[in-house]
Amino acid sequence: FGEQTLAGKSVIVTAGGTRERLDPVRFLTNDSSGKMGYAVANAARQAGATVTLITAPTNLTAPAGVTVVPIQSTTDLSNAVLERFPKADALVMAAAVADFQPETTADQKIKKTPANDELILKLKKTPDILKQVAGIKRPDQVTIGFAAETQNLLANGQKKLASKSLDLLAANDVSRKDIGFNGDDNQVTFISPDGSTDQTPKASKAIIATALVDRLAQLLVKK
Ligand code: PMT
Repeated sequence: FGEQTLAGKSVIVTAGGTRERLDPVRFLTNDSSGKMGYAVANAARQAGATVTLITAPTNLTAPAGVTVVPIQSTTDLSNAVLERFPKADALVMAAAVADFQPETTADQKIKKTPANDELILKLKKTPDILKQVAGIKRPDQVTIGFAAETQNLLANGQKKLASKSLDLLAANDVSRKDIGFNGDDNQVTFISPDGSTDQTPKASKAIIATALVDRLAQLLVKK
């Protein structure tokens, strides 16, 4: 075990890609494997924190000693985070959250008929969980987000950091095949509210997670 920099602290980590249901057998989702979030949960646990991992469906086994809260949709995730955040010291949102959800979910399987050559899906915006959290966040609490970007990593990351009132943001370039979604490695640029940035080397998600948890511990000390 490394240093117990998060001993006595309670940390919520979210992971995986949310599922937005169209009907009982179909859903919209994204490429998130959950690996980044699970690695953060593991690193926080290793640093001595009490960890709650709120997770969309994944193929992963949760780290030992972590409380697991399974969710499916963005609405589920929002409810689970908002319920637990008041008692937590920190929240790390690694989940890949849908920005849009079907306006309605069919009770029965959607059928094709001879008359319908196309099906038009109407989507509506999901709640922005980190913005909801910003509304109830106390000065002693730390929130960390990720930004999944395919272009303008820094500028878009900076906007997300500010609009979600984050203490730290980890921006990753998800247009690359060797980092970001799904693989075992990542490379992130940490962006702080003072505008400072720090790019990690490309490394395993375990190493990136440890770097993030080190920063989380420093942020909690300063609170
Ligand atoms: O799971 P892996 O395969 O290991 O892949 C890791 C990852 C690429 C999913 C991860 O590193 C990552 O980037 N996670 C954030 C994905 C995402 O939703 O990014 P975003 O830029 O769309 O959102 C910005 C932040 O707001 C994120 O912290 C997100 O969790 C949060 N968010 C997004 C939408 C929403 N409605 N509510 C939110 O709180």
